[in-house]
Amino acid sequence: MQDQFGRTIEYLRLSVTDRCNLRCRYCMPEAGVAELSHADILRYEELLRVVAAACRLGIRKVRVTGGEPLVRRGIVKFIAQLAALPEKPEITLTTNGLLLAEHAEALKTAGLSRVNVSLDTLRPQRFEELTRRAGLEQVLAGIAAAEKAGLLPIKLNVIPFADFNDDEILDFARLTLEHPWDIRFIEFMPISSDLDYASRDGLPMGQVEARLQTLGNLEAISRQENSGPAIMYRLSGAKGRIGLIPSVSGHFCGECNRLRLMADGRVRGCLFDNQETDLKQVLRDGSDDHALEQVLLTAACAKPEKHLINDKDFATPSRRMHGIGG
Ligand code: 5AD
Ligand code: SF4
Repeated sequence: MQDQFGRTIEYLRLSVTDRCNLRCRYCMPEAGVAELSHADILRYEELLRVVAAACRLGIRKVRVTGGEPLVRRGIVKFIAQLAALPEKPEITLTTNGLLLAEHAEALKTAGLSRVNVSLDTLRPQRFEELTRRAGLEQVLAGIAAAEKAGLLPIKLNVIPFADFNDDEILDFARLTLEHPWDIRFIEFMPISSDLDYASRDGLPMGQVEARLQTLGNLEAISRQENSGPAIMYRLSGAKGRIGLIPSVSGHFCGECNRLRLMADGRVRGCLFDNQETDLKQVLRDGSDDHALEQVLLTAACAKPEKHLINDKDFATPSRRMHGIGG
């Protein structure tokens, strides 16, 4: 599957729900979040049919996201169905970790390869302030359970904010000395306008790197050893690695291999682009798989060349992050 700019599309991000059991201030308001209705959300059979078609077209890797994917009932069985598709795609999961302890073993048995856990602070009070819920201990237990279950390597996603958790950057980095984890710092993407954080609050990756340099002995890891947009480092002698993901300031659109399917059956070519293709119609009007594949190919082809988030005319996306799946 190729787009009009010759990029090969082989990575599907699959948002299975827009709901979440946290309310991170940079992602959602406390109240008044409109949720997709039951009829709007694709059933698992429908999602599976889309992923099966996408795999026939060349998707090799599927990342299950949300909202929080583990709040959707039946998710473990669904992941087993994804992993059992004839093409045997690699299945990964992005989660806030709250429900990970109870599901880690079953997810591994279902065929999940590994997990990315979103965790922005290691301090309980701060966790509660940011997410508006208690639960740091539960998340840490989830990470431990995932590690024990063999969902490796464990990756932690951290979004650094100026004057909020920037004093924990080095604490997160030091975790790699003792744990074989990837700590990935991700630049905040200001895609919604009515949240408690604005673009000026996100810490640019240049500043994160400058702070990491103060730890000394930060070794760059070559890009061949690593795929995806992260720039990887290792503290000398560390078990784990440190990644920097300059989502806003970086320009990796030229290498983008992703397509996004959201829980309501719409496909997005780019996180930041409001253009979407609806699959629900073709899934529910009796069309055959060939027709479904054609719609997917058209959606892939329509990927924009690059995002315009740094442009003065940038239009705020019509959905929040929990609806798109990151
Ligand atoms: N910018 C960057 N990352 C975000 N996430 C949620 N909202 C944003 C944002 N505005 C992250 C979550 C999670 C991943 C799915 O996306 O923390 O790690
Ligand atoms: Fe939930 Fe993730 Fe949004 Fe936090 S960032 S509210 S964990 S979807």
